[in-house]
Amino acid sequence: MADKKYENVEIQRDGNITFIMLNRPDKRNAMSPGLHADMVDALETISVDPETRVVVIGGNGPAWCAGQDLKLYFREAGKDPIKRRKANADSHRWRWELLSRYPKPTIAMVHGFAFGGAFTQLCACDFAIVAEDATLGLSEVNWGIIPGGIVSWNLSDMMLPRHAVYYAATGEPFDGKRAVELGLANFAVPAAELRAKTLELASKLSKLNPNVLRYTKEAVRVVRKMTPEDARDYLAVKQDSLMRLDKEIGDRVGMTEFLDKKSYRPGLGPYKR
Ligand code: ACO
Repeated sequence: MADKKYENVEIQRDGNITFIMLNRPDKRNAMSPGLHADMVDALETISVDPETRVVVIGGNGPAWCAGQDLKLYFREAGKDPIKRRKANADSHRWRWELLSRYPKPTIAMVHGFAFGGAFTQLCACDFAIVAEDATLGLSEVNWGIIPGGIVSWNLSDMMLPRHAVYYAATGEPFDGKRAVELGLANFAVPAAELRAKTLELASKLSKLNPNVLRYTKEAVRVVRKMTPEDARDYLAVKQDSLMRLDKEIGDRVGMTEFLDKKSYRPGLGPYKR
């Protein structure tokens, strides 16, 4: 079935990898209330799409995302409490509630610019690959606002405290290589190689058992906020649930291949599926 057409978002496909592209290139993909509504719909639709194994969040045009749209999200919607509430709810829904608990692996593919509110979706994605020459920044201080929504929380969750306070308080921009040093991205690559490197990671992820991948990323994120005792209990129950959900895991196919058939070594990669 053909993908839905949106005003502010474009769906692109490369086999079982689905690119959800912010699509307001003229406005550097600044996030308007319309873009937030489109992203909620697109992410909800793709979350149950059987053809999609991995989701990439990208941006059309010269920027990944220039943050919240200062005109449409703050100034215009701010005049109408109902529009403001809807925009605010949609903004949080896709950037955090949906993305940070997404049932499929997600990769932020960042180029050009990423500012302010864009840090929430950057941190919500499971992985991030950034162009070396990208410019990222917490420019809120320049607007006389604090990193709101949950951006301040995202920073303190992902970055070391000194760096989080420094970049939030100064608004100083930094490049893709620095984003890796700060813990915000996995890799920085030349801009010309960004898509290829993203596809390489996506393709690696698409070969893994999707249930194990999903449970692993959920577990690693959630246990950070638990005591070791709670984590141990949670992980035992989670593993139990995984074995019941997935026949391949429940039947211990991997163990049989390693111990009995001697046909594969788990330390070196996933078994052929
Ligand atoms: N909100 C509204 N419009 C924006 C935004 C934004 N965040 N960012 C860019 N635009 C618009 C510009 O107003 C301009 O519109 P126009 O063509 O109608 O005049 C268009 O996008 C292109 O912007 P330029 O500044 O001309 O593009 P350039 O490539 O030179 O610079 C850059 C890009 C660096 C991203 C610059 O636009 C900028 O600094 N934007 C603001 C970034 C920012 O501070 N974001 C945080 C917002 S606060 C928050 O997210 C909580």
